[in-house]
Amino acid sequence: MNGSVTRGFSVFYLGGTADAAAAPFAFYPSPHQKKAKKKAVQEMLETVKYLIGSAGASGFGSKSTGEEVTAAAPDLRSVTAIITGATSGIGAETARVLAMRGARLVLPARNLKAAEETKIRIEEEFPDASIVVLLLDLSSLSSVRCFVSRFLALRLPLNLLINNAGMFSYDFSVSEDGVEMTFATNYLGPFLLTKLLLNKMVETARETGIQGRIVNITSATHTWFSGDCLSCLDLMTHKKIPYSRSQAYALSKLANVLHTKELAERLKQMDANVTANCVHPGVVRTRLNRDREGFIIDFVFFLSSKFLKTIPQAAATTCYVATHPRLAGESGKYFIDCNEVAPSAAASSPAKAARLWRGSEAMIDRCSRSRTGPGACDKD
Ligand SMILES: NC(=O)c1ccc[n+]([C@@H]2O[C@H](COP(=O)([O-])OP(=O)(O)OC[C@H]3O[C@@H](n4cnc5c(N)ncnc54)[C@H](OP(=O)(O)O)[C@@H]3O)[C@@H](O)[C@H]2O)c1
Repeated sequence: MNGSVTRGFSVFYLGGTADAAAAPFAFYPSPHQKKAKKKAVQEMLETVKYLIGSAGASGFGSKSTGEEVTAAAPDLRSVTAIITGATSGIGAETARVLAMRGARLVLPARNLKAAEETKIRIEEEFPDASIVVLLLDLSSLSSVRCFVSRFLALRLPLNLLINNAGMFSYDFSVSEDGVEMTFATNYLGPFLLTKLLLNKMVETARETGIQGRIVNITSATHTWFSGDCLSCLDLMTHKKIPYSRSQAYALSKLANVLHTKELAERLKQMDANVTANCVHPGVVRTRLNRDREGFIIDFVFFLSSKFLKTIPQAAATTCYVATHPRLAGESGKYFIDCNEVAPSAAASSPAKAARLWRGSEAMIDRCSRSRTGPGACDKD
């Protein structure tokens, strides 16, 4: 080994140019190169583990399903869960699995017909299931407020809140509150929803002794954006930068992780018996690309099919984080394939998380003050 390095040194050094004189050092990888190499090897190992579905520390892995990870869950008959986005994909399977384990479900949806269909499907499979469907369009802050007042009027307890609904918008649009649509739906609506339901969750946990859990569904694509969420949102909303669908999606998903961090911190300070965690479900074919369904999307999914999860596998991490006894007291964490992992550096910044929270509250205040038209409650 030493010999080869020495030989290399002489060959390059005798080359005579400045570059060649520096070349011997290339045989000793710089700390940066070593780090990059280690990261590449780690990523390769992670990919292999993912593909073979090898179990992590939790005992579960990429091929575990929602049904498998909830087998150890306590009887969920005393649990009431709100699951957003249960009309299709990951949310529909999460709802099915939790109903199977006995949880009472509240399914908010903007498409009531689709939600009633989900309810019927689950009831056909589990006739004892208890399911309530209520109207909620997450892109509208007034719809969120209306949903919460309707839900509170039912006087049900609330143990679990699963913020699963999400969208990927190919074209630029703004919500009725004047906020870029992806951010409004994936983050701002769920932020307000969670805030308005927090007291109910804290109260339920106190009265029942069952720890409340909030699960936010984010995505590994949160790592694609590392800037300041609100500054970028402002530029995007006001068309000062061109709309990029993947940037808009990544930004909203980074906001989901930052929301989880700050929420967990606030719950801790309140001494509330409620936890907040977030999950990346994995990549799976659902209706998330509904804007562009067709041959090209079919072809891309066909090519990548070996890397995709099935929907029961994609619901596993949500079900695990929402119910597994091992996670009692765990809060502010990020999970992939039912195991805790570190989110991006930007998503780990407490300062960014606190700033986003304050900015979101200010944005909601501004939107509420400037709205003059009929609220969603008046419309139905
Ligand atoms: N699929 C993936 O590969 C993947 C990867 C990482 C993260 N995720 C995340 O996983 C979550 C679930 O997505 P999915 O893949 O299961 O997609 P999906 O099949 O498209 O389901 C999305 C759900 O969100 C609901 N929704 C969308 N906009 C809404 C709004 N304004 N108000 C209320 N509900 C709304 C949809 O309801 P409608 O029926 O009314 O449209 C649907 O029930 C999302 O947060 C997504 O970002 C997915």
